[in-house]
Amino acid sequence: MPDVLRIDVISLFPGLFPGPLTESIPGRALDRGLAEVRSHDLRTWGLGHHRSVDDYTYGGGAGMVMRPEPAAAALDAVRGDDGFVILPDPGGEVFTQGRAHDLAARPHLVFLCPRYEGVDDRIRRMVDLELSLGDYVLSGGELAALVVIDTVLRLLPGAIDAQSTEEESFTAGLLEYPQFTRPPEFRGERVPDVLLSGDHAAVSRWRRERALERTRRNRPDLVEGTTGRGARGAQWTELSAEEPEVNPARRRRHDRADDAERWDGAEG
Ligand SMILES: C[S@@+](CC[C@H](N)C(=O)[O-])C[C@H]1O[C@@H](n2cnc3c(N)ncnc32)[C@H](O)[C@@H]1O
Repeated sequence: MPDVLRIDVISLFPGLFPGPLTESIPGRALDRGLAEVRSHDLRTWGLGHHRSVDDYTYGGGAGMVMRPEPAAAALDAVRGDDGFVILPDPGGEVFTQGRAHDLAARPHLVFLCPRYEGVDDRIRRMVDLELSLGDYVLSGGELAALVVIDTVLRLLPGAIDAQSTEEESFTAGLLEYPQFTRPPEFRGERVPDVLLSGDHAAVSRWRRERALERTRRNRPDLVEGTTGRGARGAQWTELSAEEPEVNPARRRRHDRADDAERWDGAEG
């Protein structure tokens, strides 16, 4: 695990960073020196007097496309020897907690944030990973980069209590169990007795059962391994014998969590 995770962001709106990353957990991670975020104005590498970065799309069609020269020059200047370049893109690998763990273990992340209709396709050759937040279209890559960076910062050792990230949703291949705090009764609904019992084994069993129940109800794809986009290192062995076996193809993918290869679009 690197001492300081370096994060560079190339954007037409560098003022958006660090933005929300200065607050709460990511803010503390940055204050503690676990990571540093630097933003770079893509127009620094823009073309001509107007530092132009976009142009019309070949073949016609609505909207502008980011030219390849400024983006390539920016990547050449920023990525260094160890930069892992990420392109936010609706067509990329869907971002997961497993990928967040992979990114948190790297020394240097570089985000290239497109606007307009996206970047000239030839830039993809310079990118290590295309990441999507989901099946919808944002106005630009910056919000996607912020989401990924926030997720990664909280995984850095020293950012928060390690137990918190070990037990939360997706880390064990399940959604998290229900949580309660005081008061013991609220609007007629009592906190489950087992949580007040002081019986740690019973609490642990109850939490595993509820986590599995909630995952089956809300995200059956995680239980059945049909999407393969869930967590890394699913801890199914902790569940009782009659629980479903995780899809073997999915387990192999988890075993490859440190695989730095570029995602090729294949999803098992
Ligand atoms: C208006 S979008 C371009 C959409 C593109 N023309 C398409 O149809 O796929 C501009 C940029 O926002 C970012 N973006 C939009 N939706 C995203 C998503 N779901 N996940 C990650 N990045 C996204 C990408 O960087 C994208 O190039």
